[in-house]
Order: sequence, then C-alpha cells, then structure tokens
Amino acid sequence: MNLFDVYPLNDIEIVKASGSYVWDAEDKKYLDLYGGHAVISIGHTHPHYVSRLTSQLNKVGFYSNSVKIAVQVQLAELLGKVSGKTDYQLFLCNSGAEANENALKLASFYNGRKKVIAFKGAFHGRTSLAVAATDNPKIVAPVNETGNVIFLPHNDEQALEDTFKAQGHEISAVIIEGIQGVGGIKEASKSFLQKIRSLCDQYNAVYIADSVQCGYGRTGLFYSHDWAGINADVYTMAKGMGNGFPVAGISIAPKFKPWHGELGTTFGGNHLACAAALAVLETIEQENLLENARNIGDYLISELKKFEQVTAIRGRGLMIGIDLPEELSHVKKELLFKHHIFTGEAKPNVIRLLPALNLDKTHADEFLTAFGKLVK
Ligand SMILES: Cc1ncc(COP(=O)(O)O)c(C=O)c1O
Repeated sequence: MNLFDVYPLNDIEIVKASGSYVWDAEDKKYLDLYGGHAVISIGHTHPHYVSRLTSQLNKVGFYSNSVKIAVQVQLAELLGKVSGKTDYQLFLCNSGAEANENALKLASFYNGRKKVIAFKGAFHGRTSLAVAATDNPKIVAPVNETGNVIFLPHNDEQALEDTFKAQGHEISAVIIEGIQGVGGIKEASKSFLQKIRSLCDQYNAVYIADSVQCGYGRTGLFYSHDWAGINADVYTMAKGMGNGFPVAGISIAPKFKPWHGELGTTFGGNHLACAAALAVLETIEQENLLENARNIGDYLISELKKFEQVTAIRGRGLMIGIDLPEELSHVKKELLFKHHIFTGEAKPNVIRLLPALNLDKTHADEFLTAFGKLVK
C-alpha cells in the first residue's frame, strides 16, 4: 500500500528531538523554528511532558465521554486560570478544523442563524464549514460550497459595518484569526477586533476567535485577541495545546447553555490528550513562557528590522512573518539545507517563525547569524 501523496516532502527524516532541536537519520542537528506547523509549544520531548504522558499511559490511556474523566476537569480549571477566562466552559475535540466546526455549529444553535462572516486570507481548516470559511477555493470541494459564508476584506471596518447593517439579523457568527497564520502573519488591528465585538453584541452574532495557531501563548498573551482588550464568545484552540499530541478545544462564554447531545466526539478529551494539555499548561506557568514569548519575540523582531533587505516584518511574540523580495526567495530552502534551520513559509515570499515558546536568545542569535549570511 502506498501513502496517499498529498504532501510535498523535504527529504529529511527526523528521528530524535529535544527542546528546540531535532536530529535526522544521519544524526544531523537542526534548529526548529517551525515546530511542525506551530505545534511544538514547550519544546520537543520536554521532561515534564514525557513523564506526565508516560505515567498517564501506565494508568489509563483512553476511555470515552460516557464516564467521568477527572483530568478533563483539571484541564478546564487550569485552562480557565492560565487564559484568564475562569467562567468559560471547555469542550474538547481533536483538531483545529474540528474546533472551528464545533464553534460555528454552536453559534448557529445559539442564535438559530446560518450566515458566517470570514475574511480574505483566512485559514480555518479543511472540514466542511471550516474549509468553506477558508479563503482558498483550491481546497474547497464542490460538496463544501455553501452560500452561507460571506468573505470581507481583512481589517476593513466599513465593509463590516455595511454588511451588518444590510444583513445583521441573519449573521450567526464572525470568525477571525487574531493573526492570520497561513495567510502570511497578518494581524487583525485592535480597532477591527473591537468593532467585531461591538457589532456582534449589537446584532446578537457570535464572535469566534480562531486561536488555533495564534493562541496558547504564542503571541505573549494567552489569546492574541487579548491584545485588543476584548473577550470573544468562543475561542478555538489546537496546535500548541498538546505539544504534538492531537488535542483541541473550544472555550465557551457563560451565556451558552449546553444541552446533552449538542456537541460530541469519540476521542476528544481522552485521558492521554488531557495529560498532554495539562503538561503544556503547567510548563507554560512554571517556566513563565508567555513572558519569554514576548521578550524573545521582541528581540527577534527588533533585530530582523535592522536587515535592509527585508521588505516587512510582521507579527507578535513568537509568531513572526518576514517578507523577502523575489530575489531572496531561496533563503528559506538555504536556511534548511545549508544552515539546518527549520522555518515555515507563506505565499508569496514570507518566512514564518513559529518556534517553541521557550526559545532562548542563543537560539534566536543562531538564526539571526544564519539569516544575515543568506540575505547579505
Ligand atoms: C488558524 C487555523 N485554524 C485552523 C487550522 C486547522 O487546524 P488542523 O490542521 O488541526 O485541523 C489551522 C491549521 O493550520 C490554522 O492555522
């Protein structure tokens, strides 16, 4: 049997990992500033993570949501505390797309409406409504097409206001990434997020903060939407939540009253997934990783701004986009194959940095030195 060939692969096999480094099958060491699509939040094979998962596996790895699962309750309590939303409610699932799918469904159950506002450049996942709200027609299959999603220009307050004025009572939800990831590290302005909040309040629409990539401390506050000083109705999260273990969730404002059967999943919230998510939150707290993400992120951004070859630097904390001119389009590949540094990319020519939140200055300097050599 062959693998279904949907991924363009780098010819590298990773066999070992520790902190911000990974090693290939020939024992070559790489600095990992990508964390496999922003997933590695507390570093590879973090000792606390390994021991918490191992000890959970030795007790019980899985049982379904038909019995009490104490680690779910512990996770909800700690997530409420670390995210500063103690009165929110947690629903657990398995992936970012699934989190967004559930959030959109919850919104529609809540206000009985069908229309969703999404934005140009957005990526919300590959399942039916999540992909319909994603601005990439190439990955939307005919069966996913729906007339229920309205795409508006990003950061355009007037367009948002006009749409609400015209169809406000049909809008179920507005879904927005605090910082667009796949779209190339594009930040939603504070005033845009505040405008979404006030229009959702005015029209009883649901504000969904897609925090799958930009959440979980990545920008130096728990949710990137926190920078705008507002509360969303629903936060979706995945990626960094389990440091590589598939776990996702939605954090739901108190005004949503659940009923049995409203949402559900077989695997979501299993014992191992919760142990992974708890290990991540405990480490974020113990190692002050939000503060570290702010400090190292500020350092990287200010140093990167000194390179005159760079067209633009965007982002916050450890979610950074570097725009390069066309003549430097080789830099990403050379970072990997000449300097052994993993980074991400976005179109047209953006390098995305999404490292572990405990990245230190030595790692940052290692990258800056290599980057400097390549762009000069
Ligand atoms: C902002 C955002 N939302 C949703 C998703 C989908 O997450 P998953 O691949 O876990 O389904 C992604 C994945 O890249 C993402 O970046």
